[in-house]
Amino acid sequence: MHYKRIVLNSRPEGDIEPTTFRTETLPLNNLKPGAGEVLVQVTWLSLDPAMRGYIRDVRSYLPPVQIGETMRAQGLGVVVQAGSKSVHSVGQLVSGAFGWTEFAVMKDRHAEKITVPKGVQPLDFLNILGSSGLTAYFGLRDICQLKPGDKMVVSGAAGSVGSVACQLGKRAGATVYAIAGSQEKCEWLVKELGVDKAFNYKSPTFRKDFKEAGYIDAYFDNVGGDILDMVLTRLNKGARIALCGAISQYNATKPKGLQNYLTLISQRAKIQGFIILDYTTEFPAAIEEMGRAIADGSLKGKFHIVHGLEQAPVALPMLFTGGNTGKLVVKVSEEPRTKL
Ligand SMILES: NC(=O)c1ccc[n+]([C@@H]2O[C@H](COP(=O)([O-])OP(=O)(O)OC[C@H]3O[C@@H](n4cnc5c(N)ncnc54)[C@H](OP(=O)(O)O)[C@@H]3O)[C@@H](O)[C@H]2O)c1
Repeated sequence: MHYKRIVLNSRPEGDIEPTTFRTETLPLNNLKPGAGEVLVQVTWLSLDPAMRGYIRDVRSYLPPVQIGETMRAQGLGVVVQAGSKSVHSVGQLVSGAFGWTEFAVMKDRHAEKITVPKGVQPLDFLNILGSSGLTAYFGLRDICQLKPGDKMVVSGAAGSVGSVACQLGKRAGATVYAIAGSQEKCEWLVKELGVDKAFNYKSPTFRKDFKEAGYIDAYFDNVGGDILDMVLTRLNKGARIALCGAISQYNATKPKGLQNYLTLISQRAKIQGFIILDYTTEFPAAIEEMGRAIADGSLKGKFHIVHGLEQAPVALPMLFTGGNTGKLVVKVSEEPRTKL
C-alpha cells in the first residue's frame, strides 16, 4: 500500500505557483509508530493564510518549512495504529499538525484526543473550535476589549476568523461593521450572521460609505494594507486595534507602510499584534464556551470544502483571491479506516 504527501518544492517570490509544491507517493510500510507514537489517517486538513508565511525563509513564530519537507497543516484524523505505550487507541479521533499527507506518524502529545460535545461536529474543531475561532475569541477578549455599545469593525469578515469575530462582537453587545470582498459575502454577513452593516471593499463607493458609518472603538484586522490605513483615520478616543493578520500583504516582497498612524497618538489608541499559540492553556475553557454556543445555534460556522489531498495546493491561493466564504478545508479521506 502507498500513501501521498505534498512537499514544498520551491519558494515563490510572490503568489503561490503551480511549481511551489509537488506530490510524492511513498510506501505506507515506511510509517511505523514507535513507542509513545501513533499512525494517523488524515481525514480533514485546514488551509490557512499563514501557510504563505510558513514557506517564506524568514524568522517568524514557527520555523520555515524546508524544501522537500511535508507542507505544514493542521488537521483531523483517526488513529489506525498505536505504538507500544501509546496513550491512544485505534479508532480515536485526533487533531494535530499532520501536514499535507494522507497518513502521519505522530508523537502522542502531538495528536490531541478530540471529544466531540453534543450538538457539535468534528469538523468544527478546524473552524470555530480550532485556531480560527480561538483566534477571534482571544483577539477580541484581550485586545479589542469590547464594552456594550462599542462600535467594532472586522475586516476579512466573511472568512473563517472574521465570521467568528463578527458573531462574538455581537454577543459582546457591540455594533458590528463588517468588511468583505463581494456583495454576496456582505449579504451573508448581514442576513445570516446578524452584523449591523457590511461594506464591500471592492465597491467604488466603499470609502465614502465607510466614512458615513462614523468613528469606531475597536478594529479586528485580518487584512492590513490600505484597509488598515483607512480605518486608522476613523478611530474614536481610546480605540483598540487587534492586528490578527495582514492577508493583503502576504504575497508582497515588502509589506506596504502605514500613512495614517499618527491618529494612534491623537486618539490615544492602541494597536497590538497577537499569536494564538500563546493561548493554548486557555483553549479548553474557550472551546467549551463556544461549543455550547454552536450547540444552541447562536454561533454559526460555514465551510468551503475541497475534495482530495491533491487539491490542497490548488485551493490554497483561493484564500488570497477571496474564493472562500467561511473556513476552507480539504476532505482527505472519505471513510477513516481503522484496520490496515
Ligand atoms: N494571529 C493569529 O494567531 C492568527 C491565527 C489565524 C489566522 N490569522 C490571520 O487571520 C486572517 C484570516 O484568516 P482566515 O483563516 O480566517 O482566512 P479567511 O478569512 O477564511 O480567508 C482569507 C480571506 O481574506 C480576504 N482577502 C484576501 N486578499 C485580500 C486583500 N488583498 N484585501 C482584503 N481582503 C483580502 C478574502 O476575502 P474577501 O473576499 O473578503 O477579499 C479571503 O476569503 C489572516 O490574515 C490570517 O493570517 C491570524
